[in-house]
Amino acid sequence: MTAPTTHRGLLEWVSEVAALTTPDQVVWCDGSPLEWRRLTDKLVAAGTLVRLDKKPNSFWCASDPTDVARVEDRTYICSADEADAGPTNNWMDPLDMKVIMTEHYRGSMAGRTMYVIPFCMGPLTADKPMLGVEITDSAYVVISMHIMTRMGSDALALFGEDADFVRCLHSVGAPLKPGRADVPWPCDRTKYITQFPEERMIWSYGSGYGGNALLGKKCYSLRIASVLARDEGWLAEHMLILKLTAPHGAVHYIAAAFPSACGKTNLAMLEPSIPGWTVETLGDDIAWMRFGDDGRLYAVNPENGFFGVAPGTGWNTNPNAMLTLAEGNSIFTNVALTDDGDVWWEGCTDSPPDYLTSWRRENWTPESTDPSSHPNSRYCTPITQCPITAPEWDDPNGVPISAIFFGGRRATTVPLVAESFDWQHGVFMGATLSSETTAAATGEVGVVRRDPMAMLPFIGYHAGDYFQHWIDTGKHADTTKLPKIFYVNWFRRGDDGSLLWPGFSENARILKWAVDRIEGHGTAFQTPIGWVPGTKALDLRGLETASHWAISKALTVDHDEWRAELPLIEQWFATIGDKLPTALHDELEALRQRLG
Ligand code: GDP
Ligand code: PGA
Ligand code: MN
Repeated sequence: MTAPTTHRGLLEWVSEVAALTTPDQVVWCDGSPLEWRRLTDKLVAAGTLVRLDKKPNSFWCASDPTDVARVEDRTYICSADEADAGPTNNWMDPLDMKVIMTEHYRGSMAGRTMYVIPFCMGPLTADKPMLGVEITDSAYVVISMHIMTRMGSDALALFGEDADFVRCLHSVGAPLKPGRADVPWPCDRTKYITQFPEERMIWSYGSGYGGNALLGKKCYSLRIASVLARDEGWLAEHMLILKLTAPHGAVHYIAAAFPSACGKTNLAMLEPSIPGWTVETLGDDIAWMRFGDDGRLYAVNPENGFFGVAPGTGWNTNPNAMLTLAEGNSIFTNVALTDDGDVWWEGCTDSPPDYLTSWRRENWTPESTDPSSHPNSRYCTPITQCPITAPEWDDPNGVPISAIFFGGRRATTVPLVAESFDWQHGVFMGATLSSETTAAATGEVGVVRRDPMAMLPFIGYHAGDYFQHWIDTGKHADTTKLPKIFYVNWFRRGDDGSLLWPGFSENARILKWAVDRIEGHGTAFQTPIGWVPGTKALDLRGLETASHWAISKALTVDHDEWRAELPLIEQWFATIGDKLPTALHDELEALRQRLG
C-alpha cells in the first residue's frame, strides 16, 4: 500500500517502526465505513468479536481475563529529569526505558498487520488541530479509535508536509509464529504504558484495554496534554462537560472531575428529575479549557465517543446511554452475551436473563456466584448518537464554563455538596480530593486515596507544579469571570451502610442549587469546609419526605470527622514535598483554624 501522505517525519517514523516490529503488512487507516466493515468482519472471523443480532452494527468482545483495566503500576512518566515526574508518577530514565521497550517491540508485530491511524483530538476545524498518529497491531484498537476519535483521511488532511503530531506507538506484544492460530485477545503479561513528555511521545506495550491502548484518550489528552497545557497556559482535565438550561431559559455549562468509575458519564447524560430543567451532553471524560477573549474559561471535549462503564447503566439510571447504545455502531467489552444476540450486564435490567455467556466465556445463570460482567466492562459508542448531545459539542471555541465540580466516592465525612469560598480554596478542595478506588484500575477496590482533581493517574508532570498551575490560572484571570468551584459526594452512607442520597437523575437538584449560587440567589450556611446548603435551600419537591432526614445527614459537616481528615491531608501534602504551593499549605492551616 502506498502511503497517503507526503509528511516526511511521519513517513520516516512509520518505516522505522515497521523495521523494528516486522509486521506482515502496513495499512494506513482512512476511517471509512468500508474499513470498519472490513475490520469488524476480520475480528468476527478471528473470534475476537461476536456480531450482535439485537443491536445494529454492534459487537460483543471478551478480553483476556488478565487485561481488563488500566495498569497504574505499569504506567510511567519518562521525563528527562526524574524530579519533573514528581512523587505521584512512576519514572524511569527515558533512554533506559527506550532500551527496554525497544527490545519488547523488536519483532512484536510479526505475523500481524501494522495499522497507522492518523487522528485529531478535538474539532478538526480548530485553529491548531491537535494531531496524533497511533501505530498499532490491534484491529480492535483501530475500530475503537473509529468511535473515540476523529481519525483517518479527514485527520490526515491536516498534517500537510510538516505539522506537529504526537507519536503514539502501541503493540499488544503477541507476535504470531507462521501457521500458528491467533487467540481472540492477544496481549502480553509484561505491560508498559509510557509517556515521554518532552518528546510528546507515547509508547504502550502488552495491553489491549481502552485506557492502556486507545492512546488518544488518557495518554494523549490527559498525560501529554497536561504538560502542553502547563507550558502554554491552559488546562487539560479529567472532566465531563454538560449544558444545563433552567426553566427561565438561562444556560450554564458545567465541568466536573470525578475519578474513574465515580459518575462522570452518568452526570454528563443526566435526565433531570426536576421539571423544566434540561441537561445536554458535550463530553463525559476529558475537558481542555482555555481562556477566551472575553476572560471566561472555555471547554472543549477532545473525544468523539463514550467509553463508559457498563455495570449500573440501565433505563432507570441512565436512559440516555441506553438510547445511545440502541442506535448501534458500538463495541461492548467484557459484558455478558445473551443467547438471542444481545448484551447484558449487572444493572442493565432489574432481573437477569435465565441464561448468559459471561465475560469469561462461561455459561452463566442467575444462580451463578460471580457477576456475569466484569465490574470494569465497557461500552464504546459515538457521541453523535446520544439523544441529548448539545449541538455546540463540536465547536472549536468550546463553551464558557460557569462551574467546576470536584467529586469522589466517600462513604463518610464529605458532604453531598459544598461551595468553595474562592478559587484558591476551590483548588485546595480539588488538591485534597479523596475517593475509594474502583475497578477501573487494577489493584484493591474500596481503598480511600487522595486523587487530586481526579487526575492522580493522569498528571503528566510534578503534582506540586500542577497545583501551582491551577492557582496561577486563577491569579491571572478576572475573578468575576472564573467558574465557581464545588465539591460533591454522591456516595455518602448512613450507619446502616445504605446510600444517603439517591443520586443519578436527582443530582439535578444539586446542579440547580449551584446555578442558584452562581446567579446570586441560593442560600447556604458557612461551614469550616465551605458554603453548604440546608435541606430548605435544595429543591426537594417530589422526593419522599422520609428521605429528607437522610439528605440532611448527607449534608452534615461533622467537625470531628473533618478534624480526623486534617492529618490525612497533611500526610498527603507531605508526599508532594517542597513543590507544594504555600497557598495550599495556608488553606490547610485556615481549615484547621476554622475547625477550632
Ligand atoms: P465514570 O467512569 O466517572 O464516567 O463513571 P460512570 O458515570 O460510568 O459511573 C460509574 C459507576 O457509578 C456506575 O456503576 C454508575 O452506575 C455509578 N454511579 C454514577 N452516578 C451515580 C450516582 O449519582 N449515584 C450512585 N449511587 N451511583 C452512581
Ligand atoms: P473512566 O476511564 O473510568 O474515567 O471512564 C476509562 C479508563 O479507565 O480508561
Ligand atoms: Mn466514563
